[in-house]
This record gives sequence, structure tokens and C-alpha cells, in this order.
Amino acid sequence: MIRRSILLGTGSALPERIVTNAELAQTVDTSDEWIVERTGIRTRHIAGEGETTATLATDAAKAALDAAGIVAQDIDLIILATATPDQTFPAAATKVQAALGINDCVAFDVAAVCSGFLYAVTVADSMIRSGAANRAIVIGSETFSRILDWEDRTTCVLFGDGAGAIILGAEESEEGHRGILASKLHADGRHNQLLYVDGGPSTTQTVGKLRMKGQEVFRHAVTNLASVLNEVMAQAGLPAGDIDWLVPHQANARILDATARKLKLSADRVVMTVDRHANTSAASVPLALDLAVRDGRIKAGDLVVLEAMGGGFTWGACVLRV
Ligand code: UT7
Repeated sequence: MIRRSILLGTGSALPERIVTNAELAQTVDTSDEWIVERTGIRTRHIAGEGETTATLATDAAKAALDAAGIVAQDIDLIILATATPDQTFPAAATKVQAALGINDCVAFDVAAVCSGFLYAVTVADSMIRSGAANRAIVIGSETFSRILDWEDRTTCVLFGDGAGAIILGAEESEEGHRGILASKLHADGRHNQLLYVDGGPSTTQTVGKLRMKGQEVFRHAVTNLASVLNEVMAQAGLPAGDIDWLVPHQANARILDATARKLKLSADRVVMTVDRHANTSAASVPLALDLAVRDGRIKAGDLVVLEAMGGGFTWGACVLRV
């Protein structure tokens, strides 16, 4: 018998307020033309008063539970990927747990910035396969708008807020043909200073603002994403040509195009949400996944690859038969 983590449901949540490029151009020296041409971004959602990483995560988790047709009490593990928790501690995952009315389960946050969801899925999958958990909510949720320097045009136009969640459940079968087939994670801390926040509890005692050397991150992103995708497909024993849908981290439409070209993958097999959501860090992959499941593109039996790269650097990919 093979024990695997299978996908039971997906959900997402976005703040109410939508901000256009034209609105940003009123406060920083930028233009709709520059942002669209260099990034593909047209709009982003920005959290308002009362909307936090934990509230968005809770809404996404509830939608995923509904889609899976299971009740919160069936959950024994919550992993929340975020770089923008409501507070330094307690973990935002425990706030979601309390909001869902679950009195006892394992709940913790994972910090791997834009790759956080891939890290969280990989940990949840390991715990499910080992028997340490049976039903997990895995969430990516962020409010990057709260750590942006709104006077820095090179970063403030790139990010948005939101949350996405999936429910993973254990299944034992003879063939184990569906569920998470392979995953691969990487980190290379030599690149800490290319994408970071210039504050923190143990250094400045402030939250800090996001800083990025965009061009250098771009270069590494294309190389790392293409290589980890090949690596994870080899681990799954499947050719890249078998991929039905690539659901990548949404940082820049040009990164998605360049990665697809490098992998000889048709652009219409790549789920793209960066135009509407901008870069939502750890939330971007589950948000895009939920969108493509709900609009009927991703169907039962499809081979889906999730992948992301972000601050650290960290990067990773996961192969999933839906
Ligand atoms: O999520 C984690 C991973 N993050 C990423 O993957 C982000 C990767 N990087 C990128 O997506 C791109 O590098 C950016 C979108 C951040 C920047 O695009 P670029 O084509 O690499 O532009 P650049 O940084 O080389 O800047 C080109 C010019 C500069 O002006 P000069 O020096 O040529 O006069 C910038 O000052 O564009 C200028 N610029 C802007 N102009 C108008 C930078 N930001 C803006 C802006 N509006 N918002």
C-alpha cells in the first residue's frame, strides 16, 4: 500500500480594495505603461482596516474546507506560510485555528517568503506520509502592502495582498497514482541581501521595509525555476511534456514567459494571475491554483506542477496529480 497526500479542496481570499497602476502613478513617479510592459501587472488587492494575514488566511481556509466538503474538526494540522504575520508571535496559524474553532491540532507558520507555500506543502506532505497527520490545511497568506516603502517605485508597484489555501488528506491505495508525487526544495543564503526586509525584532526592533535588487533576483529566478522543475519531474519519473498545468509563483509575467520558453512549455499551460493580483508572495501559488480549479481549467486527473522562488534565496517545486 502507498500512502500519499491527495488534494481535497482549494480556496482563496482577496482584500476588497483593488488598486490600479494609474492610482499608484498619482503618488510615485511611475506609469501604467512601465508597470504593464516590465511586469504584466495591471491591478493588485490591498488590505484595508480589519483585513490581516490571519483574517485572509481564515477566509481562504473556510473556502477550501467547503470545497473539500469536510468540517474544521476533521483537521489535525495547519501550516501557514507567511512573511507578514499579524504579530511576531503567536504564529498566525494558531489564529486561524482559533477562528475555525479547532481546539487541538498542530499549527505553526513557515517563513520562506515567496517559496513559503512550497515549503509548507512539502512539510505537510511529509507529515501525512509519515502518519503524523491525516488532514491538513496548508495556507499561503500575506499582507505585503504593510511592509512596502510606498515612496520606492522600484518595489511598491510590484506587490499585492491575498491568501490561498488547500486541504490535503491521506489516502492509501495499491498504485498511489494521485496526490503529491514529488517535491524538491532549495535554499542559498549567500543571496540574503538581494531581497530582504531592513528591520526585525532582534535587530532594529522595527518591522522594516522590503528592499530588492530586482534585476539580479530576476536572473536567478529564471535559472532556478527551470532547473528545479526539471529536477522534480525527474524525481517523479515523468517527462516535462506530461505537465498539464504549471502553477508558478507570480512575480513577473516576463519571468513566467522566460521560464516556459526555457522548458519548451506552451504559454497556455501556465496559469497566470500576476496581471490581477501582482506578487502576493507565499499566497500567489495557492491563489492561482484555486482560480484555475474554480474556472474549470484544472480538472481531476491533471498533472500539475507548483513552483516558486523568493527571498533567501529559497526555491522549490512540487508535482501533483489532482
Ligand atoms: O517574489 C520574489 C521574486 N521577485 C522577483 O522575481 C522580482 C524579479 N525582478 C523583476 O521582476 C524586475 O527586475 C523588476 C520588475 C523589479 C524591474 O524590471 P527591470 O526591467 O529589471 O527594470 P530595472 O530595475 O532594470 O529598471 C529599469 C529602469 C530604471 O531606470 P534607469 O536607471 O534605466 O533610468 C529604473 O529606475 O526603470 C526604472 N524603474 C521604474 N520606472 C517607472 C524602476 N521601477 C520603475 C517604476 N516606474 N515603477
